[in-house]
Amino acid sequence: MGIKSILITGGAGFIGSHVVRLFVEKYPNYHIYNLDALTYAGNLENLKDIESRTNYTFIKGDITDESFIKALFETHRFESVIHLAAESHVDRSIKDPLAFVRTNVFGTMILLNAFKASWKDDYSNKLFYHISTDEVYGSLGDTGLFTERTSYDPNSPYSASKASSDHFVRAYGETYGLPYVITNCSNNYGQNQFPEKLIPLFINNILNSKPLPVYGDGNYTRDWLYVKDHAIAIDLVFHKGKNSETYNIGGFNEWKNIDLVKLLCQQMDAKLGRSKGSSDALITYVKDRPGHDLRYAIDASKIKDELGWVPTVTFEEGLIKTIDWYLSNEQWLDHVTSGTYQSYYQKQYS
Ligand code: NAD
Ligand code: TYD
Repeated sequence: MGIKSILITGGAGFIGSHVVRLFVEKYPNYHIYNLDALTYAGNLENLKDIESRTNYTFIKGDITDESFIKALFETHRFESVIHLAAESHVDRSIKDPLAFVRTNVFGTMILLNAFKASWKDDYSNKLFYHISTDEVYGSLGDTGLFTERTSYDPNSPYSASKASSDHFVRAYGETYGLPYVITNCSNNYGQNQFPEKLIPLFINNILNSKPLPVYGDGNYTRDWLYVKDHAIAIDLVFHKGKNSETYNIGGFNEWKNIDLVKLLCQQMDAKLGRSKGSSDALITYVKDRPGHDLRYAIDASKIKDELGWVPTVTFEEGLIKTIDWYLSNEQWLDHVTSGTYQSYYQKQYS
């Protein structure tokens, strides 16, 4: 069998870098092309350990650049695409929704068109794998779970843009026979996550004894999944998922924000040798996020029953691994929190 050519978009970001590493290391017969615009969230330091592998190529480029993407697909004839590139932070989407339409909707369309044009509707052994989020389903009350049949009901510009891109992927499947799978995953955490999202932001603030800004009353619930377990699920769906299907991915692991923050404080105090309760004192309730979804919870039984996937890491273990990584990678943290991060932080939290 020849070398299979796979395009991974957004591979320099948080989840993408774990997916790129897994594929590069596990599949020497695949050539992995990592296409990333290196926005504030993209960071090649995430992939230092694999950058010189012979089955890996990094390409700096923007998925919204139509002529560039068209030419790239003509040159490389990617057999599969795993599409992760996106604007991914809800708070930023509230301040600048158009940036989310541009990358998440328009960028996805450009990729779909380029993939379609390069195979001219002859799709045997081809796949467009679109990575999405559980946030497209909107907000749950105190009970219930999102299944693959839950209607889309997005509330933030971020989730609306992801929902829109999901619809276009599905529409290209229905209309043009383009082979696709979509996965909708819950909140990820782990090493290399940019410290604008809850867990790495709070780890960084605890390290620097800065306030921990909890939105509203902190009684919002999320399901949390360790990023490497997400990458394992993506590998499985890529190889075994059924054409035109959607799979929900979740951690079977719901936490109210405030309980999660307290656990994180406890674990950080123990790691840093600080007295018990000292990080709790940093918890500060701040103005709520507008349109804040109350609860996300995933029914991941389809991927479990059909593909045999379950998370391998408990939340407590995953959090410890995450904290350990941030503590031993302070240089990474320094690099990403210098410069523009400071002005973002000022605008968001002042
Ligand atoms: P991230 O923000 O860490 O990384 C996004 C990457 O995309 C960055 O490397 C960035 O440089 C790149 N990118 C952004 N715009 C681009 C453009 N126009 N062209 C090319 N590259 C561009 O995001 P993440 O948390 O790793 O999320 C990856 C994907 O997974 C996204 O599609 C997101 O919607 C989805 N997702 C994330 C989570 C989560 O909890 N983080 C959960 C479910 C699904
Ligand atoms: P986040 O990590 O931004 O992910 P998402 O909004 O995609 O779920 O936020 C997770 C939860 O934490 C969400 O309910 C918002 C809350 N949150 C805070 O309370 N304070 C913060 O500073 C941030 C970034 C998030």
